[in-house]
Amino acid sequence: MDNVNIGGTFVTRLDAPLVLASGQALPNRIAKAAMEEFLAVDGQLPGHELAGLYRRWARGGAGLMITGHAMVDRRALADPSDVVLEEGTPLEAFRQWARAAQSGDGRVWLQVNHPGRVMTTDMPGAVRSASDVAVDVGRYSRLFPRPEPMTSEQIEETVQRFATTARMAESAGFDGVQIHAAHGYLISQFLSPLTNLRRDRWGGGLENRARLLLDIVAAVRAEVGERFAVGVKLNTADFQRGGFGADDASRVVAMLSEFPVDLVELSGGSLESLATHGHPADGSTLAREAYFLDAAEKIITDASVPIMLTGGIRRRSVAERVLAQGTSVVGMATALAVDPSLPRRWLHGEDAAAEVEPLRWRDKGLAAAAGQAALRCRLARLSREKASSGRTPPILALAGERLHRRAALRRYRRWLVDRRPPAPAG
Ligand SMILES: Cc1cc2nc3c(=O)[nH]c(=O)nc-3n(C[C@H](O)[C@H](O)[C@H](O)COP(=O)(O)O)c2cc1C
Repeated sequence: MDNVNIGGTFVTRLDAPLVLASGQALPNRIAKAAMEEFLAVDGQLPGHELAGLYRRWARGGAGLMITGHAMVDRRALADPSDVVLEEGTPLEAFRQWARAAQSGDGRVWLQVNHPGRVMTTDMPGAVRSASDVAVDVGRYSRLFPRPEPMTSEQIEETVQRFATTARMAESAGFDGVQIHAAHGYLISQFLSPLTNLRRDRWGGGLENRARLLLDIVAAVRAEVGERFAVGVKLNTADFQRGGFGADDASRVVAMLSEFPVDLVELSGGSLESLATHGHPADGSTLAREAYFLDAAEKIITDASVPIMLTGGIRRRSVAERVLAQGTSVVGMATALAVDPSLPRRWLHGEDAAAEVEPLRWRDKGLAAAAGQAALRCRLARLSREKASSGRTPPILALAGERLHRRAALRRYRRWLVDRRPPAPAG
């Protein structure tokens, strides 16, 4: 029986399977949402640690695991420890990663992304976006250069890159890809009227601002097999005044349903509007749990594609409430870094919850970075099959991450130089 009667209403159960448009079946309604792991090894490849981490999550019982974002262009990384999958990348390490993630019952999708303007000044490579609007994060803004607006050729090349990465993910054995169109990265920069000031076919009305996303979905679908799943992660809203709002999201979901896509994940916010950390820039008040459920209510009701909702889900009763609102899948990131076996425990009827203590530092940006660094320390420990109970103090985690980043940046720069094609003779 797929439904349970709660207070007179029939609600989808967490253990009910879900068959997607591609025909792919998820064994239950719990998903691990993407978390950038910072665990790429030489050549920006996944190594043993990433495989170990996903083997651990596979045992945890989630019906779907979405990897941390993999980059479609070696010249445009959000972080020097990001994985890159592009034409010419050797696939064996990706095969091992996919196999490790498939060692349980769940499916695994590779999240594919381009950071656009979210690249710090110390990263090599030109920083490009929809328009020349720089990241505005108060006193940390100087860390981000003003981006160059992309030419049509660069946009079309980027569309093709997403398709190539998806085809290679399929060859490596992943069950699907998720196109990252949320959180203020390139596709989300095109979607938002605050960062997309273009007057050509890629800017202006929502149909034009959504063109990059829709072209990428079409190109990916054309490149992969019918049974390969294609999902999209979208902001419920940016939570910035004059930005991409819930009505826009609702219309984009309707545009996506034409393809159709398998699953649309709704999240929210960006580096400039820390909605997933409880500090949206437009001052709106988000719930302490299932942050985006209220804002997403109409999107969920109107959607004709299955919706996954992520953000602030840590307790089983909250997950069940999210399903009761018509969501098809509940997504969790933080909770599954804290307790990777939470899905299995919920599916066995336990009322377990992930304990997450918010950091109450005055500097919200720094608190968000330190909180993420502490979670990534947990991921590194999980990847080595260490007990999940250890906690690194966030300030130490942040300091350690800075050191690690310096070494990763040196390694990444060396790799870029080694990969550069030889200059033409003469
Ligand atoms: C350490 C960390 C890394 C993240 N990396 C990504 C990422 O690569 N791609 C993405 O779409 N979201 C990423 N997120 C956001 C999560 O997928 C999720 O949307 C957000 O954390 C809210 O869900 P939660 O409250 O369950 O953590 C990351 C979150 C954390 C904590």
